[in-house]
Amino acid sequence: MSVAPESGFLGFDETEARRVETLYQTPDVVAQRERVLDALGLRPGERVADLGCGPGLLALQMAERVKPGGEIQCIDASESMIALARRRCASMSGVHVRAGDVSALPYTDRTFDAAVCTQVYEYVPDIDRALAELFRVLKPGGRAVVVDTDWESCVWNSSDQARMRRVLEAWDRHCPHPQLPRTLASRLRRAGFESPRVDVIALVNDHYEADTYSFGVMPLLAAYGKKQGLVPREEADAWLADLQELGRRGEYFFSLCRYLFLARRPQARKG
Ligand SMILES: C[S@@+](CC[C@H](N)C(=O)[O-])C[C@H]1O[C@@H](n2cnc3c(N)ncnc32)[C@H](O)[C@@H]1O
Repeated sequence: MSVAPESGFLGFDETEARRVETLYQTPDVVAQRERVLDALGLRPGERVADLGCGPGLLALQMAERVKPGGEIQCIDASESMIALARRRCASMSGVHVRAGDVSALPYTDRTFDAAVCTQVYEYVPDIDRALAELFRVLKPGGRAVVVDTDWESCVWNSSDQARMRRVLEAWDRHCPHPQLPRTLASRLRRAGFESPRVDVIALVNDHYEADTYSFGVMPLLAAYGKKQGLVPREEADAWLADLQELGRRGEYFFSLCRYLFLARRPQARKG
């Protein structure tokens, strides 16, 4: 199974999977995972689904919290991500990683106390189907934490704003829903969830430094634009060089908003 890279969306092949793995170990994303874990409030013995688990960083942390007796069921559509997650979680009992699609979950109804889906739905063409699946596999009273990015919230300093816009417009095509969060609360309600709590997670970098989210995501944007023929090689390279130069001059600035939704399946479904 793969995430249809031929569509022009990011396919999370081996190179992209490794880039995401590195990016998701920066302090910015470590802090994001802490927010997710706080919202989930996991307890020992709980059964949890990690939908689109990626390299398994969150799964490993969740497994610690549901010990003893709990389990983390992970699925992902990318073989490369599955391999990374399996390796990361190999020594942790209770973590199971398999191939699967969040739009057609391989679980029976009312299986999980909690489910998490971070930075995944923006890549899924039929969101409403995926949310119906999320609802279906949660026990009544079960909770879901969903995180997605709104790329229109991106503020990134540049000495050539027109070029910055072209790079970001090209990046908008890397997934089918680059501005998903603004419709997620209403979609979750329509899927049957109680009104979700919504929190914003702002990623802010005011220095050009290697161990930051924006530094790590830059090569992904540049490589994607070039590979898809959306940004000429020289333009992508000039964009990267400009960010470095702004850093050297002390004028680097990046900010991006992600949104965290904590939604609960009602104890008894209305109607
Ligand atoms: C940006 S990564 C996020 C990984 C992980 N949730 C995290 O936050 O660390 C997106 C992940 O979603 C997976 N993905 C995308 N579409 C999917 C689908 N339809 N079903 C399952 N996984 C999917 C990708 O393979 C990738 O691992």
